[in-house]
Amino acid sequence: MIDQALLYMLSGTGNTFRVGCWIKEMIEADGGTVELEMIDEAGPREQLNSKETRMIGLLFPAHGFMPPWSMIKFILRFPVRRGTPAICVATRGSFIIGPLKIPGASGFATFFAALVLLLKGYRIKGLFSLDMPANMLNLHWGLKEHNSVRIMEKTFVKLKSFMDRLQNGKHIYFTLNNLWEAMWSVILFWLVPVFPVIYLVFGRMFMGKMMFSNNQCVGCGLCAKSCGNQAIKMIRVGSKQVPFWTYHCENCMRCMAYCNKKAVEAGHSWGVVLYYITAVPVVFWISLWLRERVPGLPVVQNYWIQELLTVFYFLPALIISYRLFWYLIRIKPINTLFTYTTLTRFFRRYHEPQTRLKHLTLLTRKRQLKTKKAKESLPDETVQN
Ligand SMILES: Cc1cc2nc3c(=O)[nH]c(=O)nc-3n(C[C@H](O)[C@H](O)[C@H](O)COP(=O)(O)O)c2cc1C
Ligand code: SF4
Ligand code: SF4
Repeated sequence: MIDQALLYMLSGTGNTFRVGCWIKEMIEADGGTVELEMIDEAGPREQLNSKETRMIGLLFPAHGFMPPWSMIKFILRFPVRRGTPAICVATRGSFIIGPLKIPGASGFATFFAALVLLLKGYRIKGLFSLDMPANMLNLHWGLKEHNSVRIMEKTFVKLKSFMDRLQNGKHIYFTLNNLWEAMWSVILFWLVPVFPVIYLVFGRMFMGKMMFSNNQCVGCGLCAKSCGNQAIKMIRVGSKQVPFWTYHCENCMRCMAYCNKKAVEAGHSWGVVLYYITAVPVVFWISLWLRERVPGLPVVQNYWIQELLTVFYFLPALIISYRLFWYLIRIKPINTLFTYTTLTRFFRRYHEPQTRLKHLTLLTRKRQLKTKKAKESLPDETVQN
């Protein structure tokens, strides 16, 4: 029986937040109490030391078959605690095609989280992944609301069965759900052994640098204020504030999903240009150019040295080209050109239908307010409001 739980959540477009709310409802319906915390402002060290927590939960979306980078950092920072029960839950992106529901795959995501917690002394009571509507808005159109609801209805039933098992003191280890994820993990590590590292380091950087605001942007700054990673800087250009995506962006898609003006795009044509600038052809030209000018320069044949050189080239190339692109798209016709040649212009924006932006940022703001209140000793009603 779970009588008290503390759930740490990360959620870009509300799917994981919704799952957190469902778990809270289910435990509270059985007489328990649950606290929900967003990880961007949570301080697990103080929280876990200051109270007797019966069970903790880590809830996050799968990103590239792993937990998102900010969740990984959060888990690694997590305090050591012997014997505290814990659950790890990933949400994954599912689609509906006609009558078919295509499940997502979170791969190594929950195994990774559970492994780190295990090493820190926690007692893993269960790990599982749940299908929610896919939210890779930079790659595909967002699901229609009725399809999202179909996926979520099934997931709710699945989650109920998992929670019933936990409530009855059973563990969730050897399930079909985990077998599916284990299979994906094996396939992935077999085919591309360093995939998670490549995705976490380069993939997210590259994808973050595909983001830009189109001419519809009014400079309201909502995207910057609501980004959990503070990854958007508003920079003044002339009379207008313009969003600039920094390297903290981990492509959670919140800014894209919630911008009222539908002004956030992931530039596909720009992505192709960026790929060519940062990848092989330019490195090849540079080495040819250098060889013509520097007599006796050795030809690098070793695969790993070539890879290393590409890595050293990749970062500065990415930084400089995005800056340049960002200035160029301030010119309206150039912005229009890139906007009209990106598929996200045609994509529906998705976020979990019931979840408003304030739900995702409110917990964080409440906490900030509490801390402020503690500092300034304000009366309690201020925090309630
Ligand atoms: C950058 C990115 C990478 C993703 N990678 C995966 C993945 O590897 N496997 C998967 O099933 N879903 C993947 N998804 C889909 C999300 O995990 C899924 O839609 C999740 O429920 C989103 O939760 P959130 O709204 O709480 O952020 C990815 C989504 C994004 C934006
Ligand atoms: S991209 Fe959207 S949310 Fe961000 S500043 Fe522009 S209009 Fe506002
Ligand atoms: S910039 Fe947008 S996509 Fe990137 S982390 Fe922030 S809200 Fe998510």
